[in-house]
Amino acid sequence: MNDIKIKIIDREGVIHEVDAPTDMNMNLMEIVRSYELAPEGTIGICGGMAMCASCQCYILSNHELPKMSYDEDLMLSEAFNVKENSRLGCQIFIKEELNGLEVELAPEV
Ligand code: FES
Repeated sequence: MNDIKIKIIDREGVIHEVDAPTDMNMNLMEIVRSYELAPEGTIGICGGMAMCASCQCYILSNHELPKMSYDEDLMLSEAFNVKENSRLGCQIFIKEELNGLEVELAPEV
C-alpha cells in the first residue's frame, strides 16, 4: 500500500477524506479531479503547467511543502483570492511525507 490520506475541503465547504497514491507521480490537482471534487472545466485548465491558477488551494495543515518554483510564485502573484497559504495544487506532488495533508480549494474564478 502506497496511499496517503488527504483531507480536501471542496468549494462548497464539504470535507472529503481521500486516499492518494504516492507511486503514480500524481499531483494534488489530479487527485481532486480523479475524485471529482470540483466540476469538470473548473480545475486543471492548463493541464498542470502552473499557468492558470484554477487549481489554487489553501494549505491548512502545517506540512512542510516543497518550495515554490518561480512559475508557481509568478502565477500566484497574478491570481485572485490569494492568501498567505495559497499554493497551486498541480505543483504539489503526492509523497509519503504529505500524509494527513489538509487543504481547501480556492473559489472558482
Ligand atoms: S492546473 Fe493550471 S496552474 Fe495548476
